[in-house]
Amino acid sequence: MNIGKIGILGAGRAGTALARAAASAGIEVNIAGSRPARHMKYHLAQYAPQAIAVEATDIARDVDLVVLMVPQEDLDEVDIDSVDGVLLIDATNRWEDEPLPNWLENALEKGLSSSEAIAEHFNGSRVAKALNHISHWDLDADRASKSASQRALAFATNHHDDAELVASLIQRIGFAPVMLPDLAAGRALEPNGDIFNEILGAEELARRAAEENARQEPSKPRLH
Ligand SMILES: NC(=O)c1ccc[n+]([C@@H]2O[C@H](COP(=O)([O-])OP(=O)(O)OC[C@H]3O[C@@H](n4cnc5c(N)ncnc54)[C@H](OP(=O)(O)O)[C@@H]3O)[C@@H](O)[C@H]2O)c1
Repeated sequence: MNIGKIGILGAGRAGTALARAAASAGIEVNIAGSRPARHMKYHLAQYAPQAIAVEATDIARDVDLVVLMVPQEDLDEVDIDSVDGVLLIDATNRWEDEPLPNWLENALEKGLSSSEAIAEHFNGSRVAKALNHISHWDLDADRASKSASQRALAFATNHHDDAELVASLIQRIGFAPVMLPDLAAGRALEPNGDIFNEILGAEELARRAAEENARQEPSKPRLH
């Protein structure tokens, strides 16, 4: 599946690293931070010169998908309607010391994984989890070191029609995609798990994800 253009919400370390990686793979990038697009000029000139600054509310316009790379503590500031109807790749992470919006705190307390909680909130979007378990340094590594490491990146979604698109993005930026069974299985990719920030090939990553999910299974709450 051919990806022409992506939107990236969040223009910090992760967002600009993905913007550089995507641009060097020939993918057009629209990017937004919390500040107005007109104030992004110098920031992008330095960190993501090929990306086009847009307003956060326009991030889903004319793109194949949107990647969410805003700290979770700022998610209340993201307009749910701005990503309505699109494939939203959740690349955010839960950090212990980060204060969270109430809806997110409550959903985590109910036992949802971080991306399930985000899917519940952004309920007009088709949420997939991906690109959260790699550091911005590695995301933006040169192609030679990416292919030498043959690193795999996992993704998880309940919308299996989107799988090809997510896998294609991962592949185009230089990694081997590994699909997990569903969004809940994306819990294995969260910080403190034994996949997070590890450089793993596809087989090992799939094995660790299956092990992690088997460990979670008995205590898994019923979702409705
Ligand atoms: N850093 C990594 O290596 C890495 C890798 C994978 C995933 N992640 C995850 O990605 C998320 C972001 O991490 P980061 O390290 O990139 O953070 P960061 O460097 O602090 O950047 C945060 C960005 O989010 C933007 N932002 C804040 N509120 C926003 C809003 N309402 N709408 C649009 N943009 C908004 C900020 O824009 P302004 O500057 O304009 O305020 C800033 O560009 C975290 O959840 C993190 O765990 C990080």
